Amino acid sequence: MTDEQERVQPSGVWATAVGVARVRALETEREDALFHDPLARAFAAAGGLWPSSPQLPDDEAARRRRLAVSFSVVIRTKFLDDLLQQACAAGVRQIVLLGAGMDSRAFRMDWPEGTRLFEVDTAAPLDFKASVLRREEAVARCERITVPVDLREDWPAALAAAGHDPSVPTAWIAEGLLIYLPEDAVELLLARIGAQSAPGSRMGLTLGSRGVIERFTTDAAPGSAASLWVSEMPDDPVHWLAGHGWDASCHTIRERAAAYGRPITTPPQREEGPGGLISALRR
Ligand SMILES: C[S@@+](CC[C@H](N)C(=O)[O-])C[C@H]1O[C@@H](n2cnc3c(N)ncnc32)[C@H](O)[C@@H]1O
Repeated sequence: MTDEQERVQPSGVWATAVGVARVRALETEREDALFHDPLARAFAAAGGLWPSSPQLPDDEAARRRRLAVSFSVVIRTKFLDDLLQQACAAGVRQIVLLGAGMDSRAFRMDWPEGTRLFEVDTAAPLDFKASVLRREEAVARCERITVPVDLREDWPAALAAAGHDPSVPTAWIAEGLLIYLPEDAVELLLARIGAQSAPGSRMGLTLGSRGVIERFTTDAAPGSAASLWVSEMPDDPVHWLAGHGWDASCHTIRERAAAYGRPITTPPQREEGPGGLISALRR
């Protein structure tokens, strides 16, 4: 059987990872791209989302919501790329991508000598990803270790068995993940990350901003990413993360977009509270 025949097709929550790859492929084609993700197109194509995605509801509101989600994926990707570069500049050599999906940072970013990057996700997306990477003959630019485990299970044990060393700092990324986890699972995840984080560790999180579930999910198409969203950020994320042992700073998509030269020109629909992009340092 060829890789194509063998490849599991995206379904459930991990199908969202292929949708994210499509957004990154589109960004990569722009002249003023905020990042280049040459593998994103291959992931999207393997998942049936390239060159075009299946017919989606086409009313104006649905179209605007899709554009907003895509835009936020672009801005958050750049935000977390920068965070990882800063972590490496500060000497961190251990990276963990939680809910890694089709994240191709191991292949597309420059990593210092000795960097080890762990990709944690369930087996199905990691298998799908491996088959695409094989076909593309992709070569990682650091030591890349995949850890197939469900984050609702004892993933710290699986990560340790794969070689993660909690005695040295880690840069953790949970990008586009927490919004899919119920609140108690988010709390447990944060507690477990904290327990594996030496002082000097970094963390980059994306959180659903306040009110996003109400605005995006009420008439979301069944099976769409938004239909699976269940959790939003707390009212005061900096205080919340301080309770987990992190000094955090919080940014909005709007503010980062302006900083990256992609300002949002429409006025905010409501008063904007704290944003969903978090960068944090372990005390
Ligand atoms: C929207 S995608 C984001 C993927 C990646 N972080 C990115 O930004 O490209 C969400 C990812 O979280 C993973 N995920 C969700 N729930 C999970 C769980 N319980 N255990 C492991 N991975 C999970 C999905 O499989 C999927 O790959």
